[in-house]
Amino acid sequence: MKDRVAMVSGGAGGIGTEIVRSLHAQGYKVASTCTVMECARVQQWKKERELEHVEVVMVEVDVRNYESCLKGVEEVESRLGPIDVLVNNAGITKDGVMKKMSPEQWQSVIDVNLTGTWNMTKAVLDGMLERQYGRIINISSVNGQKGQFGQVNYAAAKAGMHGITMSLAQEVARKGITVNTVSPGYIGTDMVMAIDEEIRNKIIATIPVGRLGKPEEIARLVTFLAAEESGFMTGADFSINGGMYTH
Ligand code: CAA
Ligand code: NAP
Repeated sequence: MKDRVAMVSGGAGGIGTEIVRSLHAQGYKVASTCTVMECARVQQWKKERELEHVEVVMVEVDVRNYESCLKGVEEVESRLGPIDVLVNNAGITKDGVMKKMSPEQWQSVIDVNLTGTWNMTKAVLDGMLERQYGRIINISSVNGQKGQFGQVNYAAAKAGMHGITMSLAQEVARKGITVNTVSPGYIGTDMVMAIDEEIRNKIIATIPVGRLGKPEEIARLVTFLAAEESGFMTGADFSINGGMYTH
């Protein structure tokens, strides 16, 4: 995939890091967003990538804000060239039962996960349409497919992401652009490690494969969908959940 450019939102997170590495290994020029560039965690992340010779253009973007997305996309395109692949990976959880959930808990999860996906996609779409090529991959969740106790906000946002996928895929299918959803099950990142241990162990016990997924396993699917050869797959929702939810 020499000379193709891929942009990953939230590329410095648990799953994002492996997506960045995998796309880079396939020869893409890779860019990632981060919310705060000048912080110890992101600086350390950049150092680690440098040590393993993974070149990443990092841009500060808040996906909740359309102008910020537009600016980030413009910066990436001026430094690397037109964006061919967008991975909408930025996401947060703010779990709680509906009875206890505040409007802020609802809105913030919708803003990052759902509106963030629309904002980033809108920011790259005109360029992809002009060039008649693109791969857009939305990282949703098994919980957007099946619902989850304590996640009305997150499940709504993640199900909504697939609504974007299905509709946009139809709009751009004849323009060389594919749009797909990847729906991971529970993957061993900070997001899942934040769940109370006892509850987490109960959840793991419901996964037929018998373990949490690995970020590399998600990255492998994303890289597959990003390929030029994957042009006939569009509007689909790819489950990758260790058998937790079959449908
Ligand atoms: N189904 C049915 N009942 C349940 C239940 C379940 N899954 N979980 C808890 N309950 C019951 C409890 O037994 C309890 O019953 P009683 O009142 O009769 O005792 C009641 O519901 C209240 O439960 P909690 O005390 O646990 O409620 P809480 O407010 O303390 O906690 C919660 C709620 C924070 C949502 C907690 O249950 C939780 O963390 N659940 C896990 C949510 C989850 O899976 N999040 C995924 C995060 S990672 C991610 O999102 C990535 C991804 O895409 C997969
Ligand atoms: P993570 O490690 O917490 O990473 C989340 C990333 O989202 C971070 O890099 C963060 O950026 C970014 N982000 C958060 N708010 C943002 C904002 N306003 N603007 C831009 N970026 C923002 O989580 P993860 O487990 O890797 O999850 C990655 C994606 O996979 C999420 O969409 C998540 O919902 C989804 N998912 C995860 C699992 C799982 O089990 N882990 C399962 C299914 C789906 P910073 O680096 O700047 O903080």
